[in-house]
Amino acid sequence: MANTHNGKLFIETVGCQMNMLDSELVVGALRKQGYSLTDDPSDADTILFNTCSVREHAEHKIYSALGRLKYSKQARPNQVIGVLGCMAQKDQTLVFQRAPHVDLVVGTGQLAEVPQLIEAARSRRERALAVSLDRKEAGRAAVSDSFQSYDPLREPAMRPSPHQAFVRIVIGCDKFCTYCVVPMTRGPEQSRPPRDILQEVKVLADQGVKEVTLLGQTVNSYKHTQDGKLFRLSDLLEHIHGVEGILRLKFVTNFPKDMTDDLLQAVRDLPKCAQYLHVPAQSGCNEMLKRMKRGYTVEDYREMFGRIRSTLPHAAVSSDFIVGFCGETAEAHQKSLNLISECRFKNSFIFKYSPRPGTKAFELYADDVPEDVKKQRNNEMLLLQNQISAEDNAGFIGDEVEVLVEGFSKVQLKKSDLGPVSGPSQLTGRTSCDRIVVFDGNPRLAGSLASIEVDDVTPTTLIGHIVTREVQHGSSVLLPILA
Ligand code: SAH
Ligand code: SF4
Ligand code: F3S
Repeated sequence: MANTHNGKLFIETVGCQMNMLDSELVVGALRKQGYSLTDDPSDADTILFNTCSVREHAEHKIYSALGRLKYSKQARPNQVIGVLGCMAQKDQTLVFQRAPHVDLVVGTGQLAEVPQLIEAARSRRERALAVSLDRKEAGRAAVSDSFQSYDPLREPAMRPSPHQAFVRIVIGCDKFCTYCVVPMTRGPEQSRPPRDILQEVKVLADQGVKEVTLLGQTVNSYKHTQDGKLFRLSDLLEHIHGVEGILRLKFVTNFPKDMTDDLLQAVRDLPKCAQYLHVPAQSGCNEMLKRMKRGYTVEDYREMFGRIRSTLPHAAVSSDFIVGFCGETAEAHQKSLNLISECRFKNSFIFKYSPRPGTKAFELYADDVPEDVKKQRNNEMLLLQNQISAEDNAGFIGDEVEVLVEGFSKVQLKKSDLGPVSGPSQLTGRTSCDRIVVFDGNPRLAGSLASIEVDDVTPTTLIGHIVTREVQHGSSVLLPILA
């Protein structure tokens, strides 16, 4: 029976792409029930926060936002406030203690239940906690079962971007890096069946999606046996590659030790695969890597990086680094800088170590690098990475690059909010190697491939113009209308 709720929904999402996908799916389910979105929490009768616990800052942000809503229900007695996702799974009833006005706490494995939990909370005015089992609480099968992947088939009208989509292929994580909460908040590593993934991609392609990004915390650990055949990520890519309409395939995030040759060869041999690999190193110092329990040495990382370079000479590689991890000396930090100089990553996401209760590092090691030193190391690393990114981007000046056009650039979006814009708009697209390109063009180009000549660069962006070239077609000359 269709539920025709006509309430207003406010949702705030923090965290990684996995959370962005979860929010998209939850919003889709609620809109199907008649909810409409609002960006004003005071106008909403349902307020949801999809949360992240990876660093303390992300949790603070949500608890502060919750704090601001303390008296909100006085104005709207019917209001339901829900906390979803990683922090819900991690903090559980602590959320109710810290924010007594919260009605719902729903973990990453119970997102399918959100619509009915909201309705129940509204009609019965009862608090509800729906979370998965603790990893130590039961056997692996029972814990895995309690972390249900939420991947309903999507409807075109419910997707925020018409041409791009995330598709989950692995949930959870079994690596247990000592600093990280994800194995707790997302549960055991589970790979979705290839059949389901392929069906999802086909539906998306039929809806006009051109670029699919496969998601997993360790996406390249993907493994699933179907009809007696083992599917690795390379096999999956090969199958998805055959889906008509898809122009580009990406996958994030890769774990260095699982960067096998079959995967690199698949990226080399399948033209739709983006020439881009996100393979976080976290540190360039063996002692730190050991304390982090990453399971590889800097030498192993270098060996892997060498294999990427020899198989995929034009691929861009990006990384994540943690600065100021427990016991990190100036020398250890220098080794991370050295690794950046050596690998010349396209970009690096740099994070100051944030001790997380419940993790091994929190239990075993002192958070002994002072905040100002963390900040200084963070800035120093960022400066080095930006310098490298700017230098490597400068190498593109004068080149023609192929981009998948995404749509209006952020600046343009602001301008067009003020009223209709005339003339060409500022658009953004991405190269196969994941570089952002800004150029003027017709918004109709969104979702198609275009050739751009690069005129200028910043550390993060290439700036250029559309190449309109004469195409020889039989004996006549056609001028393609691009802009
Ligand atoms: N699954 C991915 C990343 C997960 S979290 C991977 O393994 O690479 C995203 C990034 O946050 C990590 O790569 C790491 O650099 C950072 N991170 C995780 N826990 C952290 C912590 N406690 N403090 C600071 N940064 C952290
Ligand atoms: Fe966290 Fe490590 Fe798993 Fe990445 S691989 S999610 S850093 S435990
Ligand atoms: Fe954060 Fe959860 Fe992603 S902890 S980084 S939202 S998996």
